[in-house]
Amino acid sequence: MTNAPSADGRFAPSAAFAAKAHVTADQYQAMYDASIQDPARFWAEHGKRIDWIKPFTKVKSTSFAPGNIDIKWFEDGTLNVSANCIDRHLETRGDQTAIIWEPDDPKDAAQHITYKELHRRTCRMANILETLGVRRGDRVVIYLPMIPEAAYAMLACARIGAVHSIVFAGFSPDALGARINGCDAKVVITADHAPRGGRSTPLKSNTDAALLHCKDSVKCLVVRRTGGQTTWVDGRDYDYNEMAMEADDYSAPAEMGAEDPLFILYTSGSTGQPKGVVHTSGGYLTYAAMTHQYTFDYHDGDIFWCTADVGWVTGHSYIVYGPLANGATTIMFEGVPTYPDAGRFWEVCQKHKVNQFYTAPTALRALMAHGNAPVEKYDLSSIKVLGTVGEPINPEAWNWYNDVIGKGKCPIVDTWWQTETGGHLLTPLPGAIATKPGSATLPFFGVQPVILDPQSGEEITTTAAEGVLCIKDSWPGQMRTVYGDHERFEKTYFADYKNYYFTGDGCRRDEDGYYWITGRVDDVINVSGHRMGTAEVESALVAHVDVAEAAVVGYPHAIKGQGIYAYVTLMNGVEPSEELRKELVKWVRSEIGPIASPDLIQWAPGLPKTRSGKIMRRILRKIAENDHTTLGDISTLADPSVVDHLIEHRMNKA
Ligand code: WT7
Repeated sequence: MTNAPSADGRFAPSAAFAAKAHVTADQYQAMYDASIQDPARFWAEHGKRIDWIKPFTKVKSTSFAPGNIDIKWFEDGTLNVSANCIDRHLETRGDQTAIIWEPDDPKDAAQHITYKELHRRTCRMANILETLGVRRGDRVVIYLPMIPEAAYAMLACARIGAVHSIVFAGFSPDALGARINGCDAKVVITADHAPRGGRSTPLKSNTDAALLHCKDSVKCLVVRRTGGQTTWVDGRDYDYNEMAMEADDYSAPAEMGAEDPLFILYTSGSTGQPKGVVHTSGGYLTYAAMTHQYTFDYHDGDIFWCTADVGWVTGHSYIVYGPLANGATTIMFEGVPTYPDAGRFWEVCQKHKVNQFYTAPTALRALMAHGNAPVEKYDLSSIKVLGTVGEPINPEAWNWYNDVIGKGKCPIVDTWWQTETGGHLLTPLPGAIATKPGSATLPFFGVQPVILDPQSGEEITTTAAEGVLCIKDSWPGQMRTVYGDHERFEKTYFADYKNYYFTGDGCRRDEDGYYWITGRVDDVINVSGHRMGTAEVESALVAHVDVAEAAVVGYPHAIKGQGIYAYVTLMNGVEPSEELRKELVKWVRSEIGPIASPDLIQWAPGLPKTRSGKIMRRILRKIAENDHTTLGDISTLADPSVVDHLIEHRMNKA
């Protein structure tokens, strides 16, 4: 074993690995220092990793100043993101596989899509979108399974300067409709059905339901995935497969400004409905490509697999944009880790000789529960680097990943980032930074993390520190605004701590300067590596006729990281029952989607409130965590007796 801990508990890269790595320990320090001392110079150099139509002369124009949150990178440069991900590779690697598509059912053949084929397919999709009236700046919602057409659709939008907004195929018709309306999309691209884990989601009929609440002018482009039954609305619905047969093979990439929006991705926050995170073109692509190369120590010819879904930012940056900008072979997997059995990930790794494997702790925990036998059937010797993302990784899962998957010889990169950040902000570089299980270690180039005292808002300057994690200055992959609501952007990320970007995460920095994320400090919970706003689940619950009031908190969950715990007060005269409990779970799934399903629902005749009517979530969290012996001061409650009732009837007695 080479990836074994040294005396100080760190896992250092082997000399053999470091010798071949893009960045070694010394280089990391020198490059990091350079990136902080003179960001404009550093990024002017790294901005060259993508092709510009008109080169930029301005590099960084960013302000975190109150009332003037303004973020621009490479602002006078022009480029086309799709040409960067496809056209510029055609000459040197036109016949190389760009995308390996691995279908849900392992009995179905994988598809290998070359860069040439990707070009043809993307151009056709671009022409189809133009036929449907999509123009530069228009929004297109993508609601697709994990099929190559999802990548074609993203790249086709980028090609013609349209802005895509992907809605995860697990979201409900209501959530889809809200997003179509939220960004005023002209077209929604969907498929007949989405097979996943041997089951099928009727995406087209979900879309039909969503479109009942949208403008009549919204058009629907339907990709045939299963050939399963759908209903058809003439004049609104268009058959992708038919149109693709007729469409022209060439579409000229539009010349876009570096700061033209590339995509909107809705994500949950602590208040209100999900917000549309806006990412732009030049800075985002530079950052996605650079982090993909350095974090995973990606080399030409490597086969890269990120198991995320393109419905999340991880899929945007590390299935599509980062890898393709680097001319990589990227795997797109339609299925789930446990179908047809718990060996699926490893079967795919063996089959496609995966070199870098990137997944979430929740998937590792779920697989760990099946023991080592499903892993040992497969040859994983092609793997060089392992990655995790989405939540802190617990030591058991880290050790299993290291020993059983990596055989003790693959560096593990624990990447901390967010939908808002576009790419990794805290992460080890595998040839440079010795890791400590559970720590996202050190900042990526150009990133200045700071830990603030949550009360005073002052920066804690000692090496060892604990508080809230903020970032002091901009990096190219940063979100630029909340779609249609710049004020909300400022309020959410720049108001609590002036002149800093506030991440919403708590964090500890140890005596070696390593960062350890301790979890969200706001009313956002992290369920299986996906962000869920408690306010969203609450508003879904209170939309049910039988519900008077609801309060939702997270609690520790062995597989999901956090589970959803809902306290529900019923309308006068409504009796609690098991049926109603099931009905409410079903209701939330239909309002938002399965990822928002409450794991536990407790009937609460009353909720703990202050005299001014504010729900004391701190108390609800403690009870949900089964940690009710240390509730702290409850004397400010309007009616302290409700607490005893809640404790007595708590659902999590584990
Ligand atoms: C939140 C962002 C970025 C892709 C996945 C989720 C948590 C993410 C880690 C990590 C500890 C992590 C944070 C963050 N998170 N990665 N490696 N260690 N926590 O994206 O839905 O925007 O959620 O996920 O709490 O704020 P997201």
